[in-house]
Amino acid sequence: MTDLSHMAYYIETFGCQMNENDSERIAGILDAAGARRAASPEASGLVIVNTCAVRAKSEEKLYSYLGRLRGLKKRRGLVIAVAGCVAQLHRGDLSAGRPFVDIVIGPDNYHRLPELLAAGGAGARVLTAWSSGWNEEERRLQVRANPSSAFVTIMEGCDNFCAYCIVPFTRGREKFRPLPAVLSDVEALARSGYREIQFLGQNVSAYRDADTGAAFPDLLDRASAIPGPEWIRFITSHPRSFGPEIIAAMARSRAVCRQLHLPLQSGSSAVLDRMKRGYSRSDYLDKVGALREAMPGIHLSTDIIVGFPGETEEEFRETMSALEEIRFSNIFSFRYSPRPGTAAARTADDVPLEVKRRRLAEVQALQKSIQTEIHRGIVGQTIRVLGAGRSRKDPAVFSGRSEGSQVVNFTAPGDPAGRFFQVRISGAGPYSLRGEAAPFDPSRSVDYRP
Ligand code: 5AD
Ligand code: SF4
Repeated sequence: MTDLSHMAYYIETFGCQMNENDSERIAGILDAAGARRAASPEASGLVIVNTCAVRAKSEEKLYSYLGRLRGLKKRRGLVIAVAGCVAQLHRGDLSAGRPFVDIVIGPDNYHRLPELLAAGGAGARVLTAWSSGWNEEERRLQVRANPSSAFVTIMEGCDNFCAYCIVPFTRGREKFRPLPAVLSDVEALARSGYREIQFLGQNVSAYRDADTGAAFPDLLDRASAIPGPEWIRFITSHPRSFGPEIIAAMARSRAVCRQLHLPLQSGSSAVLDRMKRGYSRSDYLDKVGALREAMPGIHLSTDIIVGFPGETEEEFRETMSALEEIRFSNIFSFRYSPRPGTAAARTADDVPLEVKRRRLAEVQALQKSIQTEIHRGIVGQTIRVLGAGRSRKDPAVFSGRSEGSQVVNFTAPGDPAGRFFQVRISGAGPYSLRGEAAPFDPSRSVDYRP
């Protein structure tokens, strides 16, 4: 085994939960080779930047960060590695124009980092090949920063090719982790005391176990039967593959949270068609209806893009009316930006920047008022909260999440991490709830399902 005991490293992560999870995988691989984690780039001999390519803005973050690292490298020796989605997208071009970048490594190659680092030598090393299988041994090494909530990857990649989306190019084609490996991971995490499991993948609702043909509802059933973790969540689902069987499996599970992230992207069927999403506004509304009927009170969140090529004012109004009609508990909203290689990048990015900005502001203002109302409706209730840590602003205050995935700041005795609390909600803003906790007592919680 490669010995990296002389090496201190720092990982900077941009992007989604998949990338957060990958950074923990990278840390596990480096730790197993003897390397030490450092608190800052300044205290490290190796800096790994785990990058996101999903929007132009995400990619720009990398280049400004690299500028900073370049300055640091000039002052003293430093190995710079670019990992993740931008690495996969630009491969050798990334280091060709930036000689200070030593390593470019894509998401399927992290197990080879120690060998690359030990080899040293001049010139950039670029590893961006795809592999078809799962490296289970490497996954077991993952360093988990959160002691109460664990991500479990069940699939990677995407075959949908939505017109705006770069993911099929940065994460490759869909591949599914075998169900026995997923379940044994959940069992091991349950034994270690994790209270929440979050299944992870770009398109989890399309899950299929190659050997048995078991689909996502089967996975939810089997995982829910494992004693231990009280909460199960999953991200991200695609409305097209999100059928009634999944809704039924969620509803019958003792553990699946009454919360779902289901990206809508646009409220206009015409725009959805141009985006190649494979569902219409009314298909989506039907799914929302079925979810709410099966699980009253379920909290829904979504992703919205404004200013997709050709989006008219009328089409944009349909997104606004969808938000009013559905009343999501949370949204993530973005201005469209063309991404290299995607179908939409071949058509003109014709919605002017000021218009995109104004539409985004309108979406966010509307959502803020909806969220404030939803949150005010929770004031006075006692809800279950999984403690995560202390609030950054005030260490005397704890921070956690509700079953609906709202951020809850609360006061309580003892240490918050990894414990369930019953929190009486006494105040609410658009982005979080406040309250006071008593230790968890299932009989008093309003959202407890035996
Ligand atoms: N421009 C703007 N937003 C995008 N997203 C994905 N690609 C683009 C793009 N080219 C958004 C989608 C997706 C989320 C992760 O990022 O809303 O669901
Ligand atoms: Fe960004 Fe998509 Fe890569 Fe996640 S998978 S880091 S969102 S480009």
